[in-house]
Amino acid sequence: MTMVRLVIDGHAINGESGTSLLQAWVAAGLPLVGNVGCMGQGVCGACRVLVRRPNERLAQTGLACETLVEEGMQVAFINISRQRRPHSYDLHALGDSWDAIARIDEIFPEATRCRHCGGCDAACPKGIEVEKMVNLAAVGQTLAAAELFDDCVQCNLCVAACPEHIDPAHLGQLVRRMTASMTLRPSDLIMRLHELEAGEQTIDLDSPGTLPQVSDDADVETADLETADVETADLETADLETAVVETAEIENADVENAQIENEEVQ
Ligand code: SF4
Ligand code: SF4
Ligand code: FES
Repeated sequence: MTMVRLVIDGHAINGESGTSLLQAWVAAGLPLVGNVGCMGQGVCGACRVLVRRPNERLAQTGLACETLVEEGMQVAFINISRQRRPHSYDLHALGDSWDAIARIDEIFPEATRCRHCGGCDAACPKGIEVEKMVNLAAVGQTLAAAELFDDCVQCNLCVAACPEHIDPAHLGQLVRRMTASMTLRPSDLIMRLHELEAGEQTIDLDSPGTLPQVSDDADVETADLETADVETADLETADLETAVVETAEIENADVENAQIENEEVQ
């Protein structure tokens, strides 16, 4: 087993090579409070991090559950999740393609202000062509724009990166909703929703990546677990459908922040 040394949120830890930042964080006995929703499946977008590697001048964004540990990494979780202003619209009024351009312009007038800086593309941990989506949406190419956004996990890193306050993540959500309201829903989605309504949603806790492995020989050098006042989360019994906070038994944690993250996941 090869171990690498890195720093996450001020905690110097040894992480097993080949594991994710999130797995290394958990293996070091550090608390899961905010910044974690889907527990490593890469779909909730909550575990945003800034990563700086040795000899790199600029930090990069990523998801802690999809970024592998490297020697000398410096990592910080990012606690941003909000769009800059709410964009209100009636979902039932999105279904007419004749006025798609007008509706997008009415709801997101800032979309036409893209300065093509590429900041959103650079920030996106999913490799989405965010700038292209914004520009397609701004000219009413709803379907093409929505297709680019299929893999979006709503992490909001593009929102934080955009100097024009365009909120690309939420513009992408709008065009996907418009497309959905103008087309037949996929049958597998409809079947899944019926399963959810019937309380038949299942999560396979044994599938790869569902739960991070917790190593017994976790090596924490500077983690101040005394002052963090945290009882290690019982990952075996974690209930992914409810809040991480409820299962982590954290006594002195930032519960408010964690609740926000969990609302986003649900
Ligand atoms: S498009 Fe924006 S919100 Fe979606 S995954 Fe990329 S950075 Fe996150
Ligand atoms: S960050 Fe904003 S302004 Fe820059 S390319 Fe993306 S959408 Fe356009
Ligand atoms: S915990 Fe990383 S995306 Fe959900």
